[in-house]
Amino acid sequence: MAEQAGVSLGTVSNVLNRPDSVSDQTRQRVLAVIERLGYVRSESARQLRAGRSRIIALLVLDMANPFFVEMARGAQQAARAAGLAVMMCNSAADPAEEADYLAMFAEQQVRGVLVTPTGDAADGRLHVLRGRGIPFVYADREQPSAKACSVSVDDVAGGRLAVRHLLAEGHRKVVYLSGPAHLAQSRDRHAGALAAFAEAGLPPDRLTVLEAARFDVTAGREAAARLLGMADRPTAVFCANDLLALGVLQALYAAGLRVPQEMAIVGYDDIDFASAAAVPLTSVRQPAHRIGRTAAELLIAETDEEAAPAHEHRKIVFQPELVVRSSSLSGHRRP
Ligand code: RIB
Repeated sequence: MAEQAGVSLGTVSNVLNRPDSVSDQTRQRVLAVIERLGYVRSESARQLRAGRSRIIALLVLDMANPFFVEMARGAQQAARAAGLAVMMCNSAADPAEEADYLAMFAEQQVRGVLVTPTGDAADGRLHVLRGRGIPFVYADREQPSAKACSVSVDDVAGGRLAVRHLLAEGHRKVVYLSGPAHLAQSRDRHAGALAAFAEAGLPPDRLTVLEAARFDVTAGREAAARLLGMADRPTAVFCANDLLALGVLQALYAAGLRVPQEMAIVGYDDIDFASAAAVPLTSVRQPAHRIGRTAAELLIAETDEEAAPAHEHRKIVFQPELVVRSSSLSGHRRP
């Protein structure tokens, strides 16, 4: 190729890797030969030479959940601005799948990893990455130690907002529909719900906990069947995410139960489908796009060769916001 373009191998490399260092005329001549030969750069060969992947891996709990899609969009925006790309993978909230992906990321020497961990055991596996020189940032989960950056939302505050609202609407018997209990999101939102009862001076046994097998619509429908079968059925349900809430809403409608009159519903995330639901869903909004963008920016800063030595890990916690819609405004007033 260099011979056909009448330049040195170094000039061809400059055209591909440092185009600003080559005159327009020479760059056009080399690009014309590349086009004619149909040359495609080998990214793995480039990585070997440069030792720097341009791929950021993003490992989320459920890539079918619009919350994580929005988080990925935010990460992609930051990555693109730095000339990088994001590869999104799905752990399905399964520690074994998570471990497989983390091993693959280390093998492939990705630039860095953004991860919503499946649980505390992830911490050990993630530090293996660092041992391979691959930094990581927790996205959507606070990192308990100061050994990595993290970007999350105060889920205890979010759970408190949701149940404080239901209590203000007059409900005194509330169900908390949790996701899988091994996830910090489930535990923290539950803690917030209990805090709302405590600050209202109400006994915690007025909050009944149901655990869904997954954070998805099907699990929401399945949980609604248990809700409907409860003796002395509560009048409100706080769902740990919007997909669960949409499943509950659908099942209650099919059973002929009126929402919110006979059952108020609050979700969590405020995904686009929440406002578009047949009964617009009250939800606790998380800044998903901002979480993803901020986490990616922190990771990119940590991988920057000049800035990395001075990098200090940061723990960024955003506050949730309650968005009130029809699904919880029942005007329920208890004596
Ligand atoms: O994956 C379950 C939930 O955790 C998502 O809906 C979002 O709330 C995340 O924090």
